[in-house]
This record gives sequence, C-alpha cells and structure tokens, in this order.
Amino acid sequence: MIDYVDSPHGITAERLAGFFVGWPNPPTPETHLRLLHESDHVVLAIDSENGHVVGFVTAISDGVLSAYIPLLEVLPECQKRGIGGELMRKMMAKLDGLYMIDLVRAENLGPFYERFGLIPADAMVIRNFARQSGQ
Ligand SMILES: CC(C)(COP(=O)(O)OP(=O)(O)OC[C@H]1O[C@@H](n2cnc3c(N)ncnc32)[C@H](O)[C@@H]1OP(=O)(O)O)[C@@H](O)C(=O)NCCC(=O)NCCS
Repeated sequence: MIDYVDSPHGITAERLAGFFVGWPNPPTPETHLRLLHESDHVVLAIDSENGHVVGFVTAISDGVLSAYIPLLEVLPECQKRGIGGELMRKMMAKLDGLYMIDLVRAENLGPFYERFGLIPADAMVIRNFARQSGQ
C-alpha cells in the first residue's frame, strides 16, 4: 500500500535513495532531504511495507498569488501505478485558490499535466549544471 504524507518530518536520507534518475550531477539523498524541508509544500508517497519514499512532489510559493512546482518524480519501478497522478492531485489541492501555478514539463508530459488543469505556456529558464547537485 502507498501512504501519502505532506511533511518530510521523520523521513531519513536512507529512505530517499533512487531519485533524480538520469541527472548527470544529482543531489545526494541528504541534499534531497534538505530541499524537502526547505520547500513550502511537499507530498511524499511512501511504501507502507518498508517505509521507502517512492515518489515526491515539491512546491515553492509566496502564499498570496503564485506557486512553482519544481520537482515531481516517482521511482522507475513504481511508475504507471497512479502514484505520480495522486501526488499531483494532492499538490494541486494544496495550491488551490492561488492565481498562478507554474511548472516546466519534461518532454511529452503535456497530456499528463493537462489532467490537472495546466495549459501550455512559453517559459524562460537557466540551468546551471555545475550546481545541479545542490552542493
Ligand atoms: C512523470 C511521472 C512522475 C509520472 O508518474 P507515474 O506514477 O508513472 O504517473 P501515473 O501512473 O499517475 O500516470 C502515468 C502517466 O504519466 C504519463 N507519462 C509518464 N511518463 C511519460 C513519458 N515518458 N511520456 C509521455 N507520458 C508519460 C502518461 O500520461 C501516463 O499515462 P498512462 O499510464 O495512461 O500511459 C514519472 O513518469 C516520473 O517520475 N518520470 C521521471 C521524472 C519526470 O519526468 N518528472 C516530471 C518532470 S516535469
């Protein structure tokens, strides 16, 4: 069974192994835990059998008008079971009532995000890969 929680309290770095698949310079589980604590909102999917975190989503928000969803990931072996969708549904419920909710989607994920009411838009970004690990 998958449990969903909206706080990283009590989560240890060991329970966060396996994320940032394909990132050339990924954050360590310890850095991952730090960014969860520093985010304004998180939702975590936890395997109730072993306590391992199998999916997460974060949001940064001013709490007045706007929020940004920087990270959403489900461990590869747990994908296609509805976990990513449930994480997004729960995060969108937390952000309900704000004027703007933005994210930058990975290629091909437009239809996935449209399920939650998001629409395509132009964006401008910087990616400083030397800082990708957060170190
Ligand atoms: C995107 C992601 C979080 C979805 O998690 P999930 O638990 O598999 O999601 P669900 O089971 O709720 O929904 C699966 C849907 O995701 C979409 N999807 C996932 N990967 C996709 C891909 N590579 N191309 C197109 N659609 C994709 C499909 O719409 C799929 O629907 P389907 O099952 O009807 O085919 C997961 O694939 C993931 O972690 N990917 C790697 C990290 C990533 O890309 N994060 C998003 C950054 S914007």
